[in-house]
Amino acid sequence: MSRLAARGLTLAYDDRVVVEELELAVPDGQVTVIVGPNACGKSTTLRALGRLLKPRGGAVLLDGVELARIPTKKIAQAIGLLPQSPVAPEAITVADLVARGRQPHQSWWQQWSEADEKAVSDAMERTDVASLAERSVDELSGGQRQRVWIAMALAQETDLLLLDEPTTFLDIAHQVEVLDLVRQLNHERGRTVVAVLHDLNQAARYADHLVAMKAGRVVAEGHPKEIVTAELVREVFGLEAVVVPDPVTGSPLVVPGTPWAAPGM
Ligand SMILES: Nc1ncnc2c1ncn2[C@@H]1O[C@H](COP(=O)(O)OP(=O)(O)O)[C@@H](O)[C@H]1O
Ligand SMILES: [Mg+2]
Repeated sequence: MSRLAARGLTLAYDDRVVVEELELAVPDGQVTVIVGPNACGKSTTLRALGRLLKPRGGAVLLDGVELARIPTKKIAQAIGLLPQSPVAPEAITVADLVARGRQPHQSWWQQWSEADEKAVSDAMERTDVASLAERSVDELSGGQRQRVWIAMALAQETDLLLLDEPTTFLDIAHQVEVLDLVRQLNHERGRTVVAVLHDLNQAARYADHLVAMKAGRVVAEGHPKEIVTAELVREVFGLEAVVVPDPVTGSPLVVPGTPWAAPGM
């Protein structure tokens, strides 16, 4: 079952078509990860799935209805999107930014509820930013800021969560922490996640459903164990590699071929 799906989705900037006739059914209750080389259209696709970008052709469907026909607030209650380079309002504090995640749940007669308060503190705790609450977002490190954005997306408490490279700027421990958090949310709360990741090995570890894109098209999709092969890595990334089982998880681990070395070394 797929609450969120793309049907014949074509996306373009001005005259340049970036994604063409894309078919994608996001499996409910699973973690889908999109991988592919730089500029192949991953972010563009994710933005369209979150209605930040209007399709040139085809449609994105939520529960069978075109996004364009659904009121913005309804979409925001169902789909949370963390873009690749989000921009924070100037001088906003961490607590205030995370609280903005609650906007879709508010109305003029009820501005701020206990449920809002709980969602915000819960999100800040899970992303380890509670101690930064009163700090200005401007003055945080890239990694701290990234975790604040993730907290905002979590505070929105949507069934569908779209994350564009959520581990950018994070050190390896925080990368693992964020990806584990994504898995936990998926497992404990049944959240459906679509994430773009640039690290193929992390993608293979965390994805239930892996989508490999190249030049605006889906080249392969399925469980990482089924689709990640040396041939796929060559076809999608143009890289010679060996694929071995990850010693910890057994998922496919992509090891690039011999590094360049000076002759005679
Ligand atoms: N706002 C934009 N205006 C014009 N072209 C864009 C814009 N955003 C992305 N592109 C172009 O669309 C292509 C796909 O970009 P993107 O979806 O960001 O790739 P990816 O996320 O896979 O790296 C790239 O060639 C990029 O330069
Ligand atoms: Mg991108």
